[in-house]
Amino acid sequence: MLDLARRFLAKYRRLLVLGPACKLIEAVFDLITPLVIARMIDDGVGHGDVDVIIRLGIVLLVMAVLGLCFTLVCQKTAALVSQGSGTDVRNALFEKVNEFSYTELDRFSTPSLVTRITNDVNQLQVAVAMLVRQVIRWPFLAIGSMVAALLIDFKLGLIFLVVTPLIAFIFWSVMRRCIPYFRGMQAKLDRISLITREALSGVRVIRAFVRDDAEERRFDTATADQTDTAIAAGRLSALLNPATLFVMDMGVVAILWAGGNQVMVGELTQGQVMAFVNYMTQTLLSIVYVANLVVIFTKASASAARVKEVLDTPVSICDGPGAEGSGCKDSPAISIQDVCFRFPDSGKDTLSHVSLEVAPGQTLGIIGGTGSGKSTLMALMQRLYDATSGSVLIRGVDVRDYRLDELRGTLAVVPQAPSLVSGTLRENLVWRDSQATDDELWHALELAQAAEFVRRMPEGLDSPVEASGKNFSGGQRQRLTIARALVGRPSILLLDDPFSALDYATDRSLRDALAADDPSRTTVMISQRVSSVREASLICVLDSGRVIGLGTHDELVDTCPVYKEICLSQLRPEEVGA
Ligand SMILES: Nc1ncnc2c1ncn2[C@@H]1O[C@H](COP(=O)(O)OP(=O)(O)OP(=O)(O)O)[C@@H](O)[C@H]1O
Ligand SMILES: [Mg+2]
Repeated sequence: MLDLARRFLAKYRRLLVLGPACKLIEAVFDLITPLVIARMIDDGVGHGDVDVIIRLGIVLLVMAVLGLCFTLVCQKTAALVSQGSGTDVRNALFEKVNEFSYTELDRFSTPSLVTRITNDVNQLQVAVAMLVRQVIRWPFLAIGSMVAALLIDFKLGLIFLVVTPLIAFIFWSVMRRCIPYFRGMQAKLDRISLITREALSGVRVIRAFVRDDAEERRFDTATADQTDTAIAAGRLSALLNPATLFVMDMGVVAILWAGGNQVMVGELTQGQVMAFVNYMTQTLLSIVYVANLVVIFTKASASAARVKEVLDTPVSICDGPGAEGSGCKDSPAISIQDVCFRFPDSGKDTLSHVSLEVAPGQTLGIIGGTGSGKSTLMALMQRLYDATSGSVLIRGVDVRDYRLDELRGTLAVVPQAPSLVSGTLRENLVWRDSQATDDELWHALELAQAAEFVRRMPEGLDSPVEASGKNFSGGQRQRLTIARALVGRPSILLLDDPFSALDYATDRSLRDALAADDPSRTTVMISQRVSSVREASLICVLDSGRVIGLGTHDELVDTCPVYKEICLSQLRPEEVGA
């Protein structure tokens, strides 16, 4: 927590002094008030002197107004510091998460990152506001009231010295048991947001499979778990008020009794006894607030740890020195050399000893069953993950030597799940080249077989896109992501099952359009359909992460039984050829 404070509060140094200083002045007024009231009772009420009562009344009023002004300044600084630093932390987190490679994203999981950026930062903001407004005030009042009471009368002060530690002890023992619950609640919140996210993003599938009830039960279990923890913590803290008030009231009774006796023998005035009672309540109230602060700071320290964990996680994939000048002209466009890959938490290799080469202008088709590692191989080409062993070369240069923007500028990717973001079509299309002209966008749409339906939309390129592009059909989304990849004329195009939502005729015309557009472009195409890859210059057949066939269609039909089997399952024997 201190580390975060040093990082994010340093620039608010002046406000952090000004706010508490104002609060301190107000606290001084609070401390003087019981003395003024004591004077009012003894000199004013006691002697029937209305003048004194009015004069001291005005003093109280002035102190109240001044106190209010200082408090307002303090509130304002608290808002500036807490909202300002909260925004800084949130931006820093967002920036960091954007740098994360897939390895780190897998490790934290999206829902947990979302909770950290929202809820955890909120907890920190509350703590910072409290830091400015209350951290000086309550301890100062607690100790100040105690000292003032002891100065009035040491003997009565002894009651104070018994009651205060007793209340502090009650707080300490309750809080000690509550704090683990508070820490646990944050982790449980993560789980709730995970389930909410899954249920909301998969709502259609869940309905289609009539899994509503199961999902609801899963959600209920998670919320019940969170509720139980909150109730357990609530039960414990519910003890606090009655217990402390009881001790406090006993203290007041003791003071009135002992103080009354002293008033009788003339050792104390009535006003002094009243001041004493006031100081006593003020001290105990302060302890209640201090305890609240402890709760807030405990929650905040749990949140701070979670925020810091994200900020301190090193990014495993970062820029290389840059590829300019290295590599030679006639090196292959893509070269995979004896690559093995294993996901961090997986027990076995997802890819093992994969080797292949694609010359510039050629097309590589990748075919294989579900889970055979096709998308993973493509992820390695983009350096979303680093290979566990072996190397991936793009145009003769190891992907680790590229700057990331350089590498991702060279490659254009159509991911397996088409992803559009809310905004306009144009905004979605210019991701690779923000300077692209309308002509270039239309050309890309034309190639991707998307121009027709975009033209039919009244606003054309400025048509709105809703979150995740849900106002487009699956096939339309797929074509739009293909168009996006083509903007900026990439020299290497990676397509991950881009035709899964397209009919055979569109699939055909798309492939023809791509081939005719730029013969020098290297294309890698993952597909489950033999018809999509059979014309490729090189076809790679993957099975459980191993290459079990590499060659042209005709070669593979002869040499690779698995490929032949796939062909026969999709084509008529006379179409298989060879
Ligand atoms: N982030 C991940 N963490 C751990 N394991 C993963 C992860 N992503 C994929 N895998 C595993 O790696 C294997 C290969 O996955 P991959 O996505 O490459 O398959 P694929 O060939 O593209 O399949 P599909 O045709 O269904 O898209 C699968 O067994 C999968 O369980
Ligand atoms: Mg895949």
